[in-house]
Order: sequence, then structure tokens, then C-alpha cells
Amino acid sequence: MIVLGIETSCDETGIALYDGERGILAHRVYSQTEIHARYGGVVPELASRDHIRKVLPLIRQTVEAADLSLGDIDAVACTAGPGLVGALLVGVSVAHSLAFALGIPVLDVHHMEGHLLSPLLEPDPPAMPFLALLVSGGHTMLVDVAGIGAYRILGESLDDAAGEAFDKTAKMLGLGYPGGPAVERLAAQGRAGRFRFPRPMTNRPGLDFSFSGLKTHTANTLAAHENEPEARADVARAFVDAVVDTFVIKCTRALRATRHRTLVVSGGVSANRQLRDGLAAMAEKLGIAVRYPKLEFCTDNGAMIAYAGYCRLRSAAAGSLGYAVRARWPIDTLGPPAAAVSAAGD
Ligand code: KG4
Ligand code: ZN
Repeated sequence: MIVLGIETSCDETGIALYDGERGILAHRVYSQTEIHARYGGVVPELASRDHIRKVLPLIRQTVEAADLSLGDIDAVACTAGPGLVGALLVGVSVAHSLAFALGIPVLDVHHMEGHLLSPLLEPDPPAMPFLALLVSGGHTMLVDVAGIGAYRILGESLDDAAGEAFDKTAKMLGLGYPGGPAVERLAAQGRAGRFRFPRPMTNRPGLDFSFSGLKTHTANTLAAHENEPEARADVARAFVDAVVDTFVIKCTRALRATRHRTLVVSGGVSANRQLRDGLAAMAEKLGIAVRYPKLEFCTDNGAMIAYAGYCRLRSAAAGSLGYAVRARWPIDTLGPPAAAVSAAGD
């Protein structure tokens, strides 16, 4: 069973072919960062137009790289939300049209379910149930995962997502867009403990997050040291340490509450070295395992969409040309695929 995955929810065009037996056969990601960098963030209309330019050539390249032809594909999966409506519509229209023309099923995939399941693409995949920490540019969530589609949100960000906080901090530090990797590099040169930023919402019960207050601390600290260029690295370090500590505190709390022995971490920020080091120390202390997607699948890609589509395949309506996209789409409303429901009931 071969599934073509199409991801166009934001500023990456991601295409992949997943085979049920052999895994990912080929994948391509085209990143639009150069287009958006001069504006300091993603410009939705430019994103949609560039997806239109890239999506078909990228599908062709991916199919060729896997040494296949379109007729070998058994189903198409596309990101239908959450994301930028114009950008989503590009991938969803292409996916539904292609599936209709080929007479094969098409699956509308939830972008965050794609991230959530991406660590399962690794050899020796983690078994459900587990706790998932989803940290992307648009979402920050702790999810109790009982099975495919059985997601209970334990906590989420009340304001900025973790990736958004990295991007805004990068802007203040003059590091450009996208900011996550640049903040990581600068923080690695900074001194720990020179500045101490608050660990938001950790001194009260609960698993929600808030990252917007860190902006004020970053801005104030930078303003107080504006004549000291070396302070920038120390500020980056203070910001990253606050974010990492916050995740360690909340994950520890959620692991104790759920008694899960595995934590799965995915989304763009899961690529962060300091976060991985912090969670590794936590895991050792608690005697639990932490699992990630491979680095290239931490940020947006088509592989996770092809895989999530594959997991839902048997419940799909074949060849449907009707479609819709969703800018907002709560992950805890998904429900299991029909086949998984009947398997659980047997
Ligand atoms: O998952 P993703 O590619 O897109 C969304 O679904 O939003 O995540 C992108 C986010 C951006 O905010 C980016 O700055 C952040 O992930 N990111 C990082 C790192 N790599 C990407 N943040 C911190 N450290 C990184 N190494
Ligand atoms: Zn994403």
C-alpha cells in the first residue's frame, strides 16, 4: 500500500511516498524561508502562490526518485488544517483532484496528528499509549495518546506557541526569520545563569503554557544592556533555559499524572538541542524514554502526512472530490479511524 503525502499548511511544500512495508520511499521538502525572510514572517498570499508553483514539480520529482509512476499510488493524503487557508487549499485541491483522476482514496490529515505520529516513522517505533509534547510554530500541546485518533489534550499554550516565542525572540536579537535554529546557536555561546527569566505558569497546578511574557523579559533585558553586544548571547541563553525548564517541569508533571513511561516530542522546536538535553536529563531521573522524529522530520514535511494518512486509510471515502480546509481544528475531536474502532471492539 503506497500513500502520497502532500503538506502545504504554511511555508514548506512537503511531498512524500510512504509504503506500508518499506516505509518512506522518497520525500522532498521545498522551504519558502527566503521568500518570507525579508518580511520577518510568513506572508500568507506569497505562501499560497509559491505552493502553486512548487507542488506539481515536487510530486513529479518525488515519484521519480522512488522509481514509481502515478499509477503505483494507492491513496493520497493531504494536510487539510490547521494552517493558512490559501496555502492549505493548494495541497488539498491537488490531492483531491489527483485522487479523483486516479480513482483512489484521498485522506484529509490533521497537521498536528502528522507531527504527533512522526516519531513512529523511526525504526523500533514507540508503542501507544504515550505522552506527546507537540511544539511547533503554531501550537504547543501536551497530549495523552491512547491510540490513533484517541487524543486528550492535557495542556496547551494560552498565547504564543513555543516556536512563535523562538521566532519573536530571534527578531528582538536581530537574528532574522525563521528564528529557532539561530536562537539555539546564539544561546549555545551564552553564559548560563547571568540572567534569569521566569518559568511561566510553573508555580501553580495545571499543564497549560504561556510564553508571551518572556518577550517582555527579553526586550527589557536587551534594552538594559544595549551597549553590550556580548549580552545578546546571555539573553538568548536565559530565554532558552526558561523555555526548556518550563517544558521539563510540565512534562514531569504530566508523566506523573498519566503514569506513561514514554514521552514523544515532535514539531519544529523538537529539533532544539538544549530542549533535547533538558528532556534527556529529566528522562534519566524519572526512568522513562523520550522519542523524537529524525531531525529532518521535526519541521514540516510530507512524510508525516503520508504516514498519518496511511494510518487512517481504511476509514476513507474513496475518490471524493468534495473538500474543505480548516484554519482551526482541535486535535481532540478527530476520533479513531473506523477500522481501528472495529479492531478495538473485536
Ligand atoms: O513544525 P514546524 O515546522 O511548523 C509548524 O507547524 O508551525 O515548526 C516551525 C517552528 C518555527 O517557529 C521555528 O523557529 C521552530 O519551529 N524551530 C526551532 C528549531 N528549529 C525549528 N525552534 C527552536 N530550535 C530549533 N532548532
Ligand atoms: Zn508543523
